[in-house]
Amino acid sequence: MKILLLGKDGQVGWELQRSLAPLGHVLALNSRSQSHCGDLANLSGLAETVSAFAPDVIVNAAAYTAVDKAESEREQAFKVNAQAVEVLARAAAECGALLVHYSTDYVFPGQGTRPWREDDAVGPLNAYGESKLAGEQAILAAGCLHLVFRTCWVYAARGNNFAKTMLRLAGESESLGVIDDQYGAPTGAELIADITAHAITLTLAKPSLGGVYHLAAGGETTWCRFARFVLEQAAAQGVPLKAHAAQVNPLSTDAYPTPAKRPANSRLDTTKLQQAFALTLPDWREGVARMLTEIHEK
Ligand SMILES: NC(=O)c1ccc[n+]([C@@H]2O[C@H](COP(=O)([O-])OP(=O)(O)OC[C@H]3O[C@@H](n4cnc5c(N)ncnc54)[C@H](OP(=O)(O)O)[C@@H]3O)[C@@H](O)[C@H]2O)c1
Repeated sequence: MKILLLGKDGQVGWELQRSLAPLGHVLALNSRSQSHCGDLANLSGLAETVSAFAPDVIVNAAAYTAVDKAESEREQAFKVNAQAVEVLARAAAECGALLVHYSTDYVFPGQGTRPWREDDAVGPLNAYGESKLAGEQAILAAGCLHLVFRTCWVYAARGNNFAKTMLRLAGESESLGVIDDQYGAPTGAELIADITAHAITLTLAKPSLGGVYHLAAGGETTWCRFARFVLEQAAAQGVPLKAHAAQVNPLSTDAYPTPAKRPANSRLDTTKLQQAFALTLPDWREGVARMLTEIHEK
């Protein structure tokens, strides 16, 4: 089996290099790859890559993920998150490949407290969310066999993310202020990559499994409680910190204005994914604790 992996060096892409390896021959590309074009901003180059490699599966882990910057760089965000995805979806439909793609809780408007289900009405609050939604819609319109995983609050040992930023800031300052009125579940890139490999195998055997799924770790928290958990774990592992969990002060979203508006409710209902693929999603604390151990043992 031939698998084309795009965005190989992102948080999820890096873990996919590991989890996809046993499934077949993986051509893993980033935007700077020389052998084939892996730059999602180069739409014709991208189409050429698919037609030259003729993959059985395309896994797109590349995305424009700078949420605040997307407000002023709409065009680039839409090129990478929507136009390039349309190119991939059309190419997948043409060559009969399965397209695996990642989307976000930011396609939802964020009101209420109930976890979002796959068929709930969408309504992004920011340009990034709009561009990701346009990517999803392009996949559905192209009619290719697909797995679209909407995920949230992604972290990994490798790459930039909230948990690592909190560790850095707590090493520099004696107190931190962190948003305490946005709810979601920190989800590990490892978990996403492992579930992706499992779902690919099952979907190739049973194409009716194709569709849109919510993929997030179990449980829920706020950014503030997430930060406190990170610092508690780090302190227990002997990491020297200036700010400890007790010095993480709750902030309201209103007190911390950002260029992009963010949803208060990023909870995702993962029942469909768990039932379709016979999975159990572990509590978010397990993966975060494991990631911190990995970082601090290095
Ligand atoms: N991170 C989150 O909290 C989060 C939440 C919900 C959904 N998601 C979705 O999950 C997926 C994976 O996210 P992630 O956290 O792994 O993101 P990430 O760590 O930011 O990785 C994204 C990758 O895309 C690459 N990329 C950007 N522009 C590109 C281009 N023009 N051509 C090729 N590659 C390009 C980046 O490479 P460079 O660094 O070289 O530009 C980077 O390696 C994305 O679809 C994202 O929208 C993420």
